[in-house]
Amino acid sequence: MSSGSRRASRFLQEKEDEVPQWIPGLGTDKPRPRTLGTSFFGYVPDAFVEKTPFLPSEKKATTPTPKDSETKEAEHKSEGAPNGQYLDPSSSKEFQRDMDASSDEGVVTEEVVVPQRVERRAAEPWDAQSVDSTDGSAQNRLLIKGGRVVNDDMMQDADVYIEDGIIKQVGTNLHTPGGTRVVEAKGHLVMPGGIDTHTHMQLPFMGTFAVDDFYTGTRAALAGGTTMIMDFAIPQKGESLVEAYHRWRSWADPKVCCDYALHVGVTWWCDKVGKEMEELTEEHGINSFKMFMAYKDTWQLDDHDLLESFKQCKEIGALAQVHAENGDIIKENTAKLLDMGITGPEGHELSRPEEVEAEATNRACVLANQIGCPLYICNIMSKSAASALGEHRRRGTLVWGETIAAALGTDGSHYYNPCWQHAAGHVLSPPLRNDSSTPSSLMELLDVGDLQTTGTDNCTFSASQKALGKDDFTKIPNGVNGVEDRMSVIWEKGVVSGKIDPCKFVAVTSTNAAKIFNIYPKKGRIAVGSDADIVVWNPHATRTISAKTHYQAVDFNIFEGMEVHGIADYVICHGRVVVEEGNVRAVSGMGKFVPTPSHSPYVYGRVQERDIANAPKKVDRAPYDGPVIQLNNQGLTQAVESSIIPTNQEFYTRGPTRCGGLNLHDSSFHVSGAQMNDKSPKRPSVKVHNPPGGKASGSFW
Ligand code: URP
Ligand code: ZN
Repeated sequence: MSSGSRRASRFLQEKEDEVPQWIPGLGTDKPRPRTLGTSFFGYVPDAFVEKTPFLPSEKKATTPTPKDSETKEAEHKSEGAPNGQYLDPSSSKEFQRDMDASSDEGVVTEEVVVPQRVERRAAEPWDAQSVDSTDGSAQNRLLIKGGRVVNDDMMQDADVYIEDGIIKQVGTNLHTPGGTRVVEAKGHLVMPGGIDTHTHMQLPFMGTFAVDDFYTGTRAALAGGTTMIMDFAIPQKGESLVEAYHRWRSWADPKVCCDYALHVGVTWWCDKVGKEMEELTEEHGINSFKMFMAYKDTWQLDDHDLLESFKQCKEIGALAQVHAENGDIIKENTAKLLDMGITGPEGHELSRPEEVEAEATNRACVLANQIGCPLYICNIMSKSAASALGEHRRRGTLVWGETIAAALGTDGSHYYNPCWQHAAGHVLSPPLRNDSSTPSSLMELLDVGDLQTTGTDNCTFSASQKALGKDDFTKIPNGVNGVEDRMSVIWEKGVVSGKIDPCKFVAVTSTNAAKIFNIYPKKGRIAVGSDADIVVWNPHATRTISAKTHYQAVDFNIFEGMEVHGIADYVICHGRVVVEEGNVRAVSGMGKFVPTPSHSPYVYGRVQERDIANAPKKVDRAPYDGPVIQLNNQGLTQAVESSIIPTNQEFYTRGPTRCGGLNLHDSSFHVSGAQMNDKSPKRPSVKVHNPPGGKASGSFW
């Protein structure tokens, strides 16, 4: 048994014995958990179903009206400089007043809330101190009343009661303490907050930084109903992975408005990298590593290094992820296109056609399958790549696929737009496909389960940054928006179009990600004991997506002008209402780093059995005891000895062939009368009636 298998079996044993420990905020400063190789599954901290009825005199009141806020532009000004600068949100006295008004008021309203279109306005951020309070006061109690709870496997009309950031009850006629705030959800769907599996906030990339940082990016996420992002800490070639991880933590922790996890990039390979992967998995809550098959000369790994990294992922129970594009072909194509004078954004798509993505997808699947390492293909952008993945899944390869909002909501025809800025605004890798059927095909593949998750690859660059590539498409910073609009775009293109139902919507926007990355059912489910990260979704309201009104810092939106049904009327993060009737109340630093434990059962649950079942089996047979040819020190046959070619040198006047075979120009007879095969055992005669190549008419001999 390999040490990886031993480790996995030890893990399975421990899983039986130990209560998994969930340690939010696990980091270098925190004690190491007893068992990281555990799932949250089946363990619900502080959970209970029945709550002792506590029925003080219920006050009738109305939901406090949030402060009418300033315009978005005013809010932007108040945030100070771009690139991650923001003001301390605790400075808002007015907002504190609103909080005081809302916190202790028991709010029970019998009014039916009719879903309607609401304009989203920016609000003052919450006071961080009051938000962080977990003293059990009424402001930490919330009842979402009258909605339809949607999980990936069921829908149910039920209320949801929340205390201290955790869902405590789900059902009807719940007993809740007095002073509990009520969110009316009649006519709304109550779903797990979205998990965006793929973002790059403030990524240093192609000479600049992504303009949406961990504050603006996560605030925008909340506005759209996403309550957790998964970002990538990407070291430069030669750089320590652990140091990159700490750098990303130091950027994100003070700024994030919602929870986040990290994947870590493997951009180079040596044994030390492998050891750091282990350290990250065991001590820092990382359970997935991303390898790039593109970005030659910077992040790209060759097949050997891919194999090494896959082996190490399996050894430590982590999920291997790949950016699947063949970087060598892209380099060749790019040079040709530039030679031809094609320097505009269309060159980006032309240099990396579908089959370049499909080839890498297939290769990654083959390599991972040879190792038996579970694999996750990031941002699948094309039908060809999705079909390569689907074929592997049907053959039993342990592989999962993510597509992104951009691929589901728009297409590559934009690269041919006569406006350079418009075309460049759509540049990302792998590129959008110039095929209008791709978005709906990818949605169908989410429905049938060939693809499982949706991210955004949110990595935003404003026009002046994209303009770095105004004369050369290879210099256009790659990346687009999506973190804010993903939920609405998938609702519109998936549910409104009838391709997926609300349960599947939940599966592909949160639950599957939570399962794959081993944070289920803490995340991705409305259930007792789960985190109170919830979106109260108004399926009827519509809005028109635009860069003019979005919360993201970037000045462009690839979904510009798209009318979408489905709006997050309320977003609850950690049990706090952070989006309310159009107001976004984000607090920098309110989100937490969510450690992702290794050996996700969803991913690794059958690896060991599979390895055993598929292990190569030795054939027991009697050892060969005949003659063996001798090789000279160049590996060439010097003397030949076999049952067919006797050692008796007298038969040889000519040396053997280059492959060591009998030179047919040698005679098989000797003047003594001996024959070459005198020492060979007699073989039963085989009469060949129809030899290959056709019957010979008459014997040659
Ligand atoms: O275009 C993209 N995807 N930019 C971000 C870097 C990456 O490839 O993930
Ligand atoms: Zn990416």
